[in-house]
Amino acid sequence: MTYKALLVTESAPKVFDHAIVQRELSELPENDTLIKVQWSSLNYKDALSFSGNKGITRKYPHTPGVDAAGIIEESPTLAKGTEVIVVGFDLGMNTSGGLAEYIRVPSEWVIEKPVGYSLREAMILGTAGFTAGQCVERLLQNGLTPDKGEVVVTGATGGVGSVAVALLAAAGFEVVAASRNPETAAWLMDLGAKRIISADELTEDSGKPMLKGLWAGAVETVGGKTLEVLTKSMQHRGVITCCGMITGMELNTNVFPFILRGLSLIGIDSAECPLDQKKALWHKLSTEWKSNQLDALCREISLEETPEALKNMANGKTRGRTVVKIDA
Ligand SMILES: NC(=O)c1ccc[n+]([C@@H]2O[C@H](COP(=O)([O-])OP(=O)(O)OC[C@H]3O[C@@H](n4cnc5c(N)ncnc54)[C@H](OP(=O)(O)O)[C@@H]3O)[C@@H](O)[C@H]2O)c1
Repeated sequence: MTYKALLVTESAPKVFDHAIVQRELSELPENDTLIKVQWSSLNYKDALSFSGNKGITRKYPHTPGVDAAGIIEESPTLAKGTEVIVVGFDLGMNTSGGLAEYIRVPSEWVIEKPVGYSLREAMILGTAGFTAGQCVERLLQNGLTPDKGEVVVTGATGGVGSVAVALLAAAGFEVVAASRNPETAAWLMDLGAKRIISADELTEDSGKPMLKGLWAGAVETVGGKTLEVLTKSMQHRGVITCCGMITGMELNTNVFPFILRGLSLIGIDSAECPLDQKKALWHKLSTEWKSNQLDALCREISLEETPEALKNMANGKTRGRTVVKIDA
């Protein structure tokens, strides 16, 4: 039996081509759970895998897609037809991913569809939304409350950033969205941002070990100089969650913000988040934290449109979430 998939091939060393192709089900990896994919979504990791980044995907040909939502065809534990999601773990990295009509994964990666979501809604959040949820959860667990002051979100138009803006605003926080793109201001305000600042403001540094304490909390998604400046610009007992490295993986800072202001810098790892914690957060996201902004956050595309969208994402030209209808 054949199925349709986005396939990236390395046609010559460091030369990557792509096509939507028909593949044999027997070409899927030998795992115990076969899922017919109905929806997927695009994440920054997919853009890297699509571009031939060997830090994400070691071997090609490969089908990207770190997110998938669909129905069980074969499983050792779940009945045929059960609606499920697979988000993170190795899906789409070195395991054939969700930008295809079928995936075959270990049963330990599979979560039954969160109660309050359709499969499509779960993919509107996908990895990026789940990561935003983890960021908000960790800020709250570390004592951040709305009365403490403004919370800044960097890369605010991105998948993680935009969902974080919506979740924080719904939780009563005064959210400041930092973006390179002023044209998106109205959209970010509609998602709940109180004000918008230019991303450049967060890379200005006098070189001093500490700067004016501006922010009570931060959801930091771009890394590099932005994260450096933020560590120095937090209020006393400020909390930063850090998940991305679009502008660099090095972090240059010093201990003063930690030992004089009690700064907490919290790393977020969504892909390998333990399954029980994943299930609990998905439940929260689909019930008490369910956003009424899901449609505003996303646009819908077909599998055939994914190459163009992934190129745009790799070039930093993205807004919100992109949900992919697989089952036409
Ligand atoms: N640790 C984890 O578990 C985890 C999980 C998911 C994602 N991530 C990481 O988090 C980051 C964001 O992911 P995402 O899904 O939100 O990506 P995305 O949808 O592509 O959004 C990234 C955003 O970053 C900003 N940006 C892009 N290129 C930039 C550049 N050259 N300089 C400064 N800002 C730039 C843009 O926002 P503006 O135009 O608004 O500035 C863009 O919308 C990525 O590094 C991703 O790998 C980590």
